[in-house]
Amino acid sequence: MEKTVQLYEGKAKKVFATSDESLAIVSYKDDATAFNGEKKGTILGKGVINNRLTNRLMKLLAENGIPTHFVEEVSERETLVKKVSIVPLEVIIRNISAGSFAKRYGVEEGIVFKAPTIEFSYKDDALGDPLINDFHALALGLATQSDIDTIRTYAFKINDILKAFMLEHGIELVDFKLEFGKLPDGTIVLADEISPDTCRFWDVTTHEKLDKDRFRRDLGGVEDAYNEVMRRLLGDTN
Ligand code: TMP
Ligand code: ASP
Repeated sequence: MEKTVQLYEGKAKKVFATSDESLAIVSYKDDATAFNGEKKGTILGKGVINNRLTNRLMKLLAENGIPTHFVEEVSERETLVKKVSIVPLEVIIRNISAGSFAKRYGVEEGIVFKAPTIEFSYKDDALGDPLINDFHALALGLATQSDIDTIRTYAFKINDILKAFMLEHGIELVDFKLEFGKLPDGTIVLADEISPDTCRFWDVTTHEKLDKDRFRRDLGGVEDAYNEVMRRLLGDTN
């Protein structure tokens, strides 16, 4: 399947049409941004790593009953996916306090929660992706109650699957962000990516950060961290 016209360019990916109306090709960039695009940079090799990691994790989730947009990897940076209309909600699951949670509630990072939490942000860059609840999402017509119920059920199930998988590879899944899409028949599927850009990964023993926080917080060793996650989860560095 060849890509045709570019449909969209986001901060970390481009999306292209294909000769099949129902399919698109996602192309992962090395560009990195943080704080709603205020901080910009490049993480060399990130596009390849995020493409390969996302596909591995989407396959794992599909094997465990989660419907996804994944069709097939077409090159190191590009993947064929089902074309969806993205539900404009960023779905965030947390197992351990970090990031905006720690800041908002004035607590330290690293508190292990008794049960995972979920929150939604309204996916709108101009507004800075504000927090939103179910009622507001319904009021704004962003999704139906049944969509939200499905998304919440999938998100917690995805957390169980990913948490166990990461732990097998010496990684603590601190928190992560998911996006879901709708197929033309209304089916909700997991879309977007699952990568060190969109998850917090800590080494299980040292608690070293192995994710985009190294870029956000200028901690150095950004590329090494992405490569380490790939090595642990995929067993190589190519
Ligand atoms: P937060 O603590 O900054 O709210 O981030 C929670 C998780 O969501 C973290 O794993 C990083 C991810 N995330 C994104 O993927 N995109 C974003 O724009 C933001 C703010 C967070
Ligand atoms: N991806 C988001 C942005 O550019 C934020 C983040 O991941 O921290 O702005």
